[in-house]
Order: sequence, then structure tokens, then C-alpha cells
Amino acid sequence: MIQSAVMGRLASQVPLVAPSLLKCDFGNMHREVELLERGGAPILHLDVMDGHFVPNLSYGPMFIRSLRPLTRLPFEAHLMISDPARYLDEYLDAGCDLITVHVEVLPDPLPLLRRIRAGGAAAGLALNPGTPVEAVFPALDECDAVLVMSVEPGFGGQKFMPQALDKLRQLKSRIGNETLLSVDGGIDLQTIAETSAAGATLFVAGSSIFDTTDYRAAIDGLTRAARGAARSADLGVKSL
Ligand code: DX5
Ligand code: ZN
Repeated sequence: MIQSAVMGRLASQVPLVAPSLLKCDFGNMHREVELLERGGAPILHLDVMDGHFVPNLSYGPMFIRSLRPLTRLPFEAHLMISDPARYLDEYLDAGCDLITVHVEVLPDPLPLLRRIRAGGAAAGLALNPGTPVEAVFPALDECDAVLVMSVEPGFGGQKFMPQALDKLRQLKSRIGNETLLSVDGGIDLQTIAETSAAGATLFVAGSSIFDTTDYRAAIDGLTRAARGAARSADLGVKSL
């Protein structure tokens, strides 16, 4: 099911490279957002960490709210927090278009996914490397996006864990094209091709964009690699 116009548009633009705002220059967000927008990013991925669900702290809804006037690009909030139900309304109010929560903190994810949708955003469900893929199966009908973590959440710059590939393949066989299949962690030119061939359609990328000086070239290169691999694997990605 397509929850919003934004998600419908994104689904028609796959493969999507989503810059993760974790390694960016936080003292210069106007410039960073402008460079990403000019570089062709279709969506911005905002990593929210609470120092409890993950051993790191990042930023919260006030920061996202302050970014909102800077761009019309859709925002995904990736909530790596222990109690997303408690804070959900703040992320809805901050202007997030897609809100992704972790299955590990939700004995039954359905009520929260429904709340996200009822609040006007699209709903994403994420799973950690150690979580069996079956954990998200009962919730797939309420998901606009499913996000497979390919590193332990908490920090950028980690090495891709290939166990994510089998999870992506299993999920791909259970979701329709209108549901985004995301992968997050260690995405570079090689792993984007592998994950694209396994069925991923949204690729969160931190280091492989922010460790370069030319965001446009990085986003372009990654997008081409994803598109090429999906075509070779015959996953029905549209030509340019
Ligand atoms: C990790 C975050 C990722 C991370 C990706 O907890 O969810 O979005 O920033 O960074 P790279 O691409 O460097 O692995
Ligand atoms: Zn993330």
C-alpha cells in the first residue's frame, strides 16, 4: 500500500541513495543540505540515537524541525531509540515523511506502525543484524519501508555484514514494488551492487558520501552502480 504521495514518488524513482546525516558537518547544515540537494539526493536519512538502544547519541526532533525549512526533500527519521511510541508525535510534528522504528523494541509493531500512518507519515520497520528476518513478517502489510541493518546500529563507518543479503532476498519475495526495501550500513560501490541485486531499493549511505568532497559524484556513482546491478539481476528497475 502506498501511504502518501511522497512515498509513491519515491517508489517510482528507485534506486534511491539516501545520505545519512551522521557524518556531516553539523556546524554548517545549510551548506550540507544544499550540497546534497544539488547533488541529487532524493531523500535525507536522519539517524536519531538515544544512547540507550544504541551506544551513541545524535540528535532529536528539534534538530529535524530546524532542518525542515531548508529543503523540500523528504526526510526519513531512523529512530534508534528504546521508546519510539513515547516520542513519535514529536517526529511527526517535526515534518518527517517516513518514520522508521526498530522491531527489537516493539513486542507488537502493528499499533505503532498504524499510528505513524494515521499521523500522516509513511511507516518503516528496521531490524538489526542479529534479529531474524521472520520478526518483521507479521508486520509487512503495515510497512511502507523495511530497513535491513547491515552493521550494528550506532556508528557510521563500519564494515558491511553480508548476512544482510539473504534477509533482503527473503523480504523481496514477500513485499510488493510499492514497499521500499532499505539497507543501512557499510554501503559503498561494491556493496550497493550486491544489495541491489538482492532486491534492495533504498540505500542509506554515510561514509561513501561524506568522506568525499563531491557529493554529486558520490551519489551519482552509487545510484548508477545500484541501477546497473538491479538491471543485471532483472529486478525491473526502469531505464534512465
Ligand atoms: C548506523 C546508521 C547509519 C550510518 C551509515 O547506525 O543507521 O545510517 O550512518 O553510515 P555508513 O554508510 O558510514 O555505514
Ligand atoms: Zn540509519
